[in-house]
Amino acid sequence: MANSDTGTAPEGFAERLATTKAILAQIASEFAPSVFASSLAAEDMVLTDLILRSQPEIGIFSLETGRLPAETLKVLDQVKQVYGHQVTLYYPNPDAVTAYVENKGLNAFYDSVELRKECCYIRKVEPLGRALAGNKSWVTGQRRAQSATRSGLDVQENDEAHGLAKFNPLADWSEQDVWHYIKLNQVPYNALHDAGFPSIGCEPCTRAVQPGEDVRAGRWWWETPESKECGLHVVDGKLVRIKK
Ligand code: ADX
Ligand code: SF4
Repeated sequence: MANSDTGTAPEGFAERLATTKAILAQIASEFAPSVFASSLAAEDMVLTDLILRSQPEIGIFSLETGRLPAETLKVLDQVKQVYGHQVTLYYPNPDAVTAYVENKGLNAFYDSVELRKECCYIRKVEPLGRALAGNKSWVTGQRRAQSATRSGLDVQENDEAHGLAKFNPLADWSEQDVWHYIKLNQVPYNALHDAGFPSIGCEPCTRAVQPGEDVRAGRWWWETPESKECGLHVVDGKLVRIKK
C-alpha cells in the first residue's frame, strides 16, 4: 500500500533497481524504437521516472479508455508539471464505442466475461495495436507478485501477436520496492493509492481492497481470478516467452 514504506530499503532493492536500469538501457540501445504502456498507476510511475530521467528515447503512452477515474487523469497533469513531459494518449474508435453502448449497454461488462472482454477489446486492445505499430519493442509495468495470472512472468517475452519484443522490467519487484522507490524519489502518484486502491484500471471496474486482500482483488471483482486480464497481456490465450 502507498503508506507501507518505512524509509528503509527492502532487502535486495538496490540490486533489483540496478537490473531494471540496465534492462531499460538495453531496450533503448538494442530494441529501439520502443514504447512504454503506462496505466499511470504506481508501478508505471516508477518506470516513467526512470525513463524520463535516463532513457527518454523510450516513448510513453496511455490508453485513455474514456472510463478512467478523474484521479488517474490528474496524474497526466502531474507528469507534465514534474517532468515537463506530455504522455501520448490513444483513444478507442468512437464508432465501436457507440455501437457497444447502443447494442449492449454502457455498463454491459457487468453481465458476462464475454461482454467485459468485448468492452476491454474496444477501449484498450484495439487502441494498443495502434500505439505499438511501427515499434520494435514495448515495455509494461507488470509484476509477478500481482496476481495468479502473472506468477510466471518473465522480464523479456516475445509478443507474437504484435510481432514485437515485450519487456517487464519490474517483474521481480515487490509492492514494497515500488513504494520505496516512489517515496525516495518523490515520484508523483495517483491519489487513489492512498484510498485503498493498490491496482487501478477503469472507474466502473475497479474498487478499493481490504487490508490483506490480493492487490488485484478490486479489479473486475465480480469475476474469478483466472479471467482477470483485459487482453493487453494475453496473446491468443497464452503468453509466449523467450528462453534466456
Ligand atoms: S491490466 O489488466 O489492466 O493490463 P494492470 O492495471 O495491472 O492490468 O496493468 C499492467 C500493465 O498494463 C501496466 O503496467 C501497463 O504497462 C499496462 N496498462 C494497463 N492499463 C493501461 C492503460 N490504460 N494504458 C497503457 N498501458 C496500460
Ligand atoms: Fe470496459 Fe471495464 Fe475493460 Fe475499462 S476495464 S475497458 S470499462 S470492461
